[in-house]
Amino acid sequence: MIDTNAFRQTLGNFATGVTVVTMNDGGDDHAMTVNSFSSVSLDPPLVAYNADKGTDSHDFTARAENYAVNVLGTDQEWLSNRFAGEHKEMDDPFEDVDTTRGETGALVFEDAIAYLDCSLAASHDAGDHTIYVGEVQEFGVNRPSADPLTFFRGEYGRIE
Ligand SMILES: Cc1cc2nc3c(=O)[nH]c(=O)nc-3n(C[C@H](O)[C@H](O)[C@H](O)COP(=O)(O)O)c2cc1C
Repeated sequence: MIDTNAFRQTLGNFATGVTVVTMNDGGDDHAMTVNSFSSVSLDPPLVAYNADKGTDSHDFTARAENYAVNVLGTDQEWLSNRFAGEHKEMDDPFEDVDTTRGETGALVFEDAIAYLDCSLAASHDAGDHTIYVGEVQEFGVNRPSADPLTFFRGEYGRIE
């Protein structure tokens, strides 16, 4: 039996970027903060993110069959906090976020450093998470000189 807290703490020593993943099910939009994003394949163009089965985004992604990954900059910690929980209390969590729609219908943040709009290509059951593999339909860099928001040992940071 492993010590879950020690395991979580050890994983936190891997520094990551921070993204907000959005989905659109044809009617509603949803989003959550994600740092499990990774690149998977160049040809075909595949990426992935891991969704906790306890999140609303987990079921939303399965239903929507799409997701857009919005990579955050150092000035967007507020967006990370919002979609890591604050959004649950808001009528419209996207109200003051400038967005457009990607090809799949998922929301793309105009001020994200970069974005990847994906259709759901595969779902892999993995313990208490599901690995959602996305086939990239559209992508771009909106702010080529912006510094990325990072997450390390449970805290936000920056690379300059
Ligand atoms: C920096 C950071 C990274 C996170 N990464 C993930 C992740 O990769 N997968 C996940 O399921 N939850 C992740 N979370 C937690 C979700 O953002 C959080 O549980 C969110 O409130 C879920 O919202 P939902 O239930 O509306 O989908 C992360 C939270 C933070 C602060």
